[in-house]
Amino acid sequence: QWGLNTKWLGKKVIHKPTTASTQHIAHQLAQESAPHGTIIIADEQTAGKGRMNRKWHSTAGKGIWMSILLRPEILPYLAPQLTLLTATVLADVLSKDTTIEPKIKWPNDILINSKKTAGILTEMQAEQDQIQYVVIGIGINVNQTTSDIPENINSKATSLQIETNNAFDITNLIQHILQTFENAYDAYIKNGFPNVKDKWESYGFRIGETIQIKTIKKNWHATFLGIAEDGALLTKAEDEEIKRLYSAEIDWYKE
Ligand code: BTN
Repeated sequence: QWGLNTKWLGKKVIHKPTTASTQHIAHQLAQESAPHGTIIIADEQTAGKGRMNRKWHSTAGKGIWMSILLRPEILPYLAPQLTLLTATVLADVLSKDTTIEPKIKWPNDILINSKKTAGILTEMQAEQDQIQYVVIGIGINVNQTTSDIPENINSKATSLQIETNNAFDITNLIQHILQTFENAYDAYIKNGFPNVKDKWESYGFRIGETIQIKTIKKNWHATFLGIAEDGALLTKAEDEEIKRLYSAEIDWYKE
């Protein structure tokens, strides 16, 4: 069904018409020693997970709900690089397969016309300095119409169909994503992070602009310079050193 030309990615593909979350299945299979590159795809998720414990709406047949199981030989603290790499893969595929210009909002939301159309959830199992496995969850809103998207998130969420007025072939998109992912991953393992960083920054939402940053303690403005090796956000406020931020809340939108 998937007709992949890949070397190692998706040699094993598990496809579920409906499941709670493809992440759960990926974790289970990982514990049962499923190989590097195993893919889990669902048509529908009844308990899709987003970052920060948020729910991820995964309407039947309207999007890509997929998890990739990886067993990378990198240090655990570098795992965020895989998320950034995945974001560049999605941005590359969307800019080739559609007429739209995707942006990546740090750390890993894919935006079209400043609205979110895809998200990535990376979960890792590591012991000391070794990664047992990483599960990269990819959610892409493809063929939803506005009525498929819950009202409260409507102002910030979108789909490929809403933004382009076209319906997309989900299987084709999945093939293209997996083929692009394999190439990007192999290049990353061979050459390291610098090329991924450059590509990420070329899609970076509001890079070079002033953003507002809020932490529990304070609230300030700084220029968004780019990303660091470990995925941190690099910012510079006037008269200050370059700062690395990991989890501050950022106000990305101009008034
Ligand atoms: C986010 O932006 O918050 C990340 C969303 C990730 C959603 C995907 S859909 C496939 C995989 N299974 C899940 O339950 N979540 C991820």
